[in-house]
Amino acid sequence: MDINAISTQIDLDIQGVHSSEGLEEFRLKYLGRKGVIAELTSTIPSLSKDERAAFGQQVNSLKNRLLALVEDKQKTLSVQSENTTYTSFDIGMPGIAQGLGHLHPVTQITDEICSIFSRLGFSIVDGPEIETEYNNFTGLNIPLEHPSREAFDTFYLKDYAKLLLRSHTSPVQVRAMQERKPPLAIVVPGRVYRPDAVDASHSFMFHQIEGFMVDAGIKFSDLKGVLEKFAKAIFGNTINMRFRPHFFPFTEPSAEVDISCIICKGKGCSVCGRKGWLEILGSGMIHPHVFKHVGIDAKKYTGFAFGLGVERIAMLKYGINDIRLFFENDLRFLKQF
Ligand code: DAH
Repeated sequence: MDINAISTQIDLDIQGVHSSEGLEEFRLKYLGRKGVIAELTSTIPSLSKDERAAFGQQVNSLKNRLLALVEDKQKTLSVQSENTTYTSFDIGMPGIAQGLGHLHPVTQITDEICSIFSRLGFSIVDGPEIETEYNNFTGLNIPLEHPSREAFDTFYLKDYAKLLLRSHTSPVQVRAMQERKPPLAIVVPGRVYRPDAVDASHSFMFHQIEGFMVDAGIKFSDLKGVLEKFAKAIFGNTINMRFRPHFFPFTEPSAEVDISCIICKGKGCSVCGRKGWLEILGSGMIHPHVFKHVGIDAKKYTGFAFGLGVERIAMLKYGINDIRLFFENDLRFLKQF
C-alpha cells in the first residue's frame, strides 16, 4: 500500500466529515481494529529488516496525524453544535419578563405628603443628618437638662462632642430661619436617629417630615387649616381631627394632633387602643425663644410648626403593624406598594 496515496485519501475523507457519526466512521476506517493503520502495521513483519524501521516510522507518524485530525474535528463539531443551538433561537418564543422596580413605600408616602404641602405653597428643603448640638437642641429651646440631650439618648459623634446624628428634622427650622427671611413656608423630609431598642414600633433610624410657616400674623387657626387639609388628603375626607394640648420646648402653645381611628371610625378598637383616636403628629406655635436664636423679630413675626413620622403615617394608612417591615428589604412586603 502506498503511504502517500493513503495520506491524500485521509485529507479528502476528513474534509467530508460534518457530523459526529461521520467522524466515527472516519475513525473506524483508519484507526479501527480492522482499519487502515492496523492493516499497514500487520504488513511490517513481512518486510525486509532494512525496510521495517523506515516503514514503521511512517505508519506511526500517519497514526499520530490521524489522532490529531480526529481530535481537532471533534472540537470543531462541538463548537458548531453550540452555535447551532444559538442560531436556532426561536424569536417567536415568549420573552423573559423583567421585574420592574418601584419606589420604596417610605419614599412613596414621603413624596405624597410633600406634594400635598407643595400644593399648599410650601417649599421642600433638605438638611444634613449630621447636625450640631446647637441646631438639634439649643436653638430649639431644648434645655441642657432635657433627657434627650444625654449621651445615651442621642448618637453623638465620637471625637466631636458637638456633632450628632439629628434626632428629629426640627433643626432644619433653625438652619432655614437663619438663612432666609420671612415669609417662609417649608417642609423638610429626612432621616432621623435615636438609640432606641428595635421593636414593632421603634427603630434606631426612621423618617420624619418637619413643616413650618412664618410670617406676620400667622395664627393657630392657620395651623389647624393646613393640617386639616393635609390629614384629609392622606386619610380621606370623612376623618375627624382633634388638637390635644401637649408640651414641646420649641412651640408654645403646643398640641398633638389625632385623627379619628380609620379602622373603627372612632368607636374604639384594638388599633386605637379603644380610644377611637390615633395620634399622627406634634405641632404648635413657634416659641419666641426659637425666633430669638435665629434672629427673627418675635414682635413682628409669628409662625407654626409641626413634625410627623413618615413610617407612622404609612402604618396607619396601610394597616402595617411592624415598623421593621420597612427596613428588612423583604420583597413580599415591598411588592405590595
Ligand atoms: N421634633 C418633634 C419630635 O421629633 C416633632 C415635632 C413636634 C416637631 C412639634 C414640631 C412641633 O415642629 O411643633 O418628636
